[in-house]
Amino acid sequence: MKGTIFVELIKMAEDAFGEDVVDIALDNANLDNGGAFTTVGNYPCSELIKIVTAFSELSGISSEKLQRMFGHWMMKHFVENFGGSFEGKADSFSLLEAVDGEIHVEVKKLYPSAELPAFSTDRISDDHLVLTYSSPRPLVEFCHGMVEACLELYGQTAEVARSPAPHPANATNFDIRLNG
Ligand code: HEM
Repeated sequence: MKGTIFVELIKMAEDAFGEDVVDIALDNANLDNGGAFTTVGNYPCSELIKIVTAFSELSGISSEKLQRMFGHWMMKHFVENFGGSFEGKADSFSLLEAVDGEIHVEVKKLYPSAELPAFSTDRISDDHLVLTYSSPRPLVEFCHGMVEACLELYGQTAEVARSPAPHPANATNFDIRLNG
């Protein structure tokens, strides 16, 4: 997993809990590298999970909630740093439909070592999309946060219902119905 993800997670926690709490959490997490992450490095996703768990233990906020918050944080980071990917995307559904075949394809070209999930989409109607997310990594709550942040980016609100997908392996359906 890209170092940028770790660097941004630590920034989010510094913003939310302060630097002292973050230092204690990184100590508590028993990390392989002692907690020194660079944006250009690559680290196992299991280390990210250890950090989230340590933040959760110190803050009392569940790991699930922290992953969701982090989805929102990363979306803001991507908007600020990869603005071009959002051009021509008129709404959240257009953006979500472009992640697998377009946005993450470009990410993979830029960072061949990136470990990306797989998405497929089914547009049921103008205001109803099913997004199927599949990843061997335990990041479904992070994905949920990204989906929520996509909606917010376009000033849209929706009911988002999540359920295990029958296939492929490790897949989750996000059933997204726009309000109003
Ligand atoms: C400009 C927009 C985007 C950029 C630049 C981007 C880039 C990235 C990068 C660099 C990673 C980390 C890969 C690694 O660490 O090896 C990642 C992971 C991920 N991205 Fe995106 N992404 C974008 C949009 C989205 C959107 C809109 C979604 C919406 C659902 C999404 C869902 C995810 C998820 C869930 C992961 C975690 C990896 C996993 O689940 O296995 N991304 N993305």
